[in-house]
Amino acid sequence: MPAPINVALPGREYDVRYSDSFADLTDVAREARAADFALIDANVDRFYGRDFRRSLPGVKFLRIAAGETSKSFISLERIANELVRGGATRQSRLFAIGGGVVGDLTGFLAGVFMRGIDFIQLPTTLLAMVDSSVGGKTAVNIKAGKNLVGVFHQPRAVIVMPRLLKTLPARELGCGLAESIKTALIADASLVHLLERQAYDHKTRDIAFLADLSAACIRIKADVVVKDEKEQSVRAFLNFGHTLAHAIEARTGYRSVLHGEAVAVGMRFAALLSRRLGHLSAEAELRIENLLKKYALPNSFADLKTAKKPGLWSNSALIKLMRADKTNQQGTIRFGTLAALGEARLPQPVSEQELLASLKEFQTLA
Ligand SMILES: NC(=O)c1ccc[n+]([C@@H]2O[C@H](COP(=O)([O-])OP(=O)(O)OC[C@H]3O[C@@H](n4cnc5c(N)ncnc54)[C@H](O)[C@@H]3O)[C@@H](O)[C@H]2O)c1
Repeated sequence: MPAPINVALPGREYDVRYSDSFADLTDVAREARAADFALIDANVDRFYGRDFRRSLPGVKFLRIAAGETSKSFISLERIANELVRGGATRQSRLFAIGGGVVGDLTGFLAGVFMRGIDFIQLPTTLLAMVDSSVGGKTAVNIKAGKNLVGVFHQPRAVIVMPRLLKTLPARELGCGLAESIKTALIADASLVHLLERQAYDHKTRDIAFLADLSAACIRIKADVVVKDEKEQSVRAFLNFGHTLAHAIEARTGYRSVLHGEAVAVGMRFAALLSRRLGHLSAEAELRIENLLKKYALPNSFADLKTAKKPGLWSNSALIKLMRADKTNQQGTIRFGTLAALGEARLPQPVSEQELLASLKEFQTLA
């Protein structure tokens, strides 16, 4: 298992620890207080609920329905009421056992419950193991958009058990691979090479490879978050590919296309834009395309598994949504691009004319 990774935020530092067995959780359990609660994803509960309950005796478990709709004010209020009824105090801790949905929801609840209590992340999806469990971004969705209400609230600890990935559905694994490719592309040319060289077959699960990949990505993320916790500068690198991805998710109602799949197409587009703007070579752009293909990720709108509605990918509709993205400033559309494989550039305004021309070229990709 990889060595622990320290997230060295002054005053709120914590470790990301790797564990091979449920028995290792007894360390955490030893410190458990009677009023600690675990929020567990319903599918994870089905596979591993008994193991988690046995390893965290005394902790009260609340089951969270799988899926993005659980990241809502309705579930937040319901759970907060259950915590109070169950005897939660300001000393209680919350355990987030699930993917990014349960992690973001639990983190937000911990950030605001009784004005802030501690929480521990136990990520169970690859996306959460490479990205969302670290960095303290928490949120719920509202009708006006995803992740629009949230707080920065760092976990006390993150415990990663890569063996849980054995039961993760293939499309969900792909989402984690997309965020891993993003992390490599923005910051680490050697990780890009490693991903290119790795013998990969998406039908078999190489848990040792996924554990090392998680650690490599978390090391990069921890470094970025320590430099810029509140996304004033370099943390924006982590949004590479996300501008178009958010528009894709909005156009498909956050249902048929998964976040990581939208990010894969968004990265392919951002690579094309980076080349058109003269920052990235055509050879590097092709390597990104091949990397996405190698990990069975979508490269174009045509690759997305969605109903073929006329006008779904209309350039004007996508540009309108990109203009509304919360990472923009004063109505301009800003795009994170690449200078090279492993080297990101901070988001810069891109003219609508250039975006339109880039989208037109992108639409011609098979
Ligand atoms: N906070 C951040 O920094 C950050 C970063 C990226 C994404 N996110 C958020 O993360 C969310 C997506 O997270 P996700 O991709 O982990 O999805 P998810 O939490 O919805 O989990 C995906 C699916 O996998 C199932 N599942 C989870 N673990 C499993 C396991 N071990 N075995 C079998 N099934 C399992 C879940 O029940 C669910 O159906 C989005 O809401 C996104 O906004 C947050």
